[in-house]
Amino acid sequence: MNFKIGLLGLGTVGAGTAQILLDSAGRHPLLQELEIARVGVRSLDKPRDIELPADILTTDLESIVTDPEIDIVVELIGGLEPARSLMLKAIASGKHVVTANKAAIALHGAEIFTAANEKGVYVMLEAAVGGGIPVIQPLKQSLGSNRIQGVMGIVNGTTNYILTRMQLEGADFEAVLADAQKLGYAEADPTADVDGLDAADKIAILASLAFGGRIKREQVYAEGIRQVSAEDIAYAEKLGFVIKLLAIAKREEGPTPQTQTDVEDRLQLRVHPTLVPKQHPLANVNGVYNAIFVEGDPIGQVMFYGRGAGAGPTASAVVADILNVAAVLKTETEPIPHPLLSCSHQHYCAIA
Ligand code: NDP
Ligand code: HSE
Repeated sequence: MNFKIGLLGLGTVGAGTAQILLDSAGRHPLLQELEIARVGVRSLDKPRDIELPADILTTDLESIVTDPEIDIVVELIGGLEPARSLMLKAIASGKHVVTANKAAIALHGAEIFTAANEKGVYVMLEAAVGGGIPVIQPLKQSLGSNRIQGVMGIVNGTTNYILTRMQLEGADFEAVLADAQKLGYAEADPTADVDGLDAADKIAILASLAFGGRIKREQVYAEGIRQVSAEDIAYAEKLGFVIKLLAIAKREEGPTPQTQTDVEDRLQLRVHPTLVPKQHPLANVNGVYNAIFVEGDPIGQVMFYGRGAGAGPTASAVVADILNVAAVLKTETEPIPHPLLSCSHQHYCAIA
């Protein structure tokens, strides 16, 4: 059986995703049953490193999300619109959706997941937080038995890359930001990275998963790294600290919350530069690497670590999501109507 993919976007992550789909040897056997049927882009004339038949490229993205032939729409254009509308149209047309778009999910997740539940289709977003690090599925599924006390970490590769090079090489902020853009780490508008907005989107998503609620994006306090100077970094160093942009979601101290409203009311949600003691594991998370600490009862502390941005790592998570959806379609099992939940472990095992 072949599953037809409609790919929206052929930039850093879209091209990385196509690369994996076209080079299936030695990877999961189900990859051989995935076909890139159509690709939506903004410009047909742009030179591209990836070779795809010219006739599958289009600028008419709406025709892809409503195409009866397409099984899975992979949204990798980014931004709020037209990404939100295209995802909703894909869902309304009965397509499963895979996305890396943390901005659209953080702001419009409730609308998108409600539509998906009503239609009985999946929306998968492993690549939206932590690039290639598996954290969405583990948080929702493998840690599902825990009462989560906090989620904290470095969730933006661009700013961690900038701070690391400022700290270790004394590099200039603007020059390193330009490098991060060339390497494909930064958002199309890098102010989202630098001002902490991208990290705020991600912690809103993680908090929704960890605390079982619908966290509103505007609840997250966001401060970026623009004000961090070379002097700040040098003083921190002398005092035994490094400066990291941390994203934090944690329960306030107090009695165990009894209702979902209690849980949401007693959350701290913030992103800001933080002095991290040099001996703390997060102090040694450098460059484009991200790390996410989860503290839960009864598990204690768990840390997820890996490359948090860039074509390859992010495409790794996107294609894993596509495979999970294809695995469920292949077993012809009914989708599980639960927000942010992909196919069950049982489904995945069925084809492993
Ligand atoms: P790019 O800017 O590199 O690529 C965007 C792609 O979408 C391009 O192919 C562009 O077309 C196409 N596109 C954008 N807007 C439109 C539109 N209105 N109509 C048609 N096509 C459009 O972005 P990235 O690949 O870096 O990011 C994609 C998504 O992945 C974003 O949501 C981002 O936040 C997320 N992400 C990115 C990571 C990274 O490391 N870069 C990591 C994790 C998530 P054209 O090529 O013709 O210009
Ligand atoms: N711009 C983002 C970052 C991409 O630097 O972390 C990964 O989400």
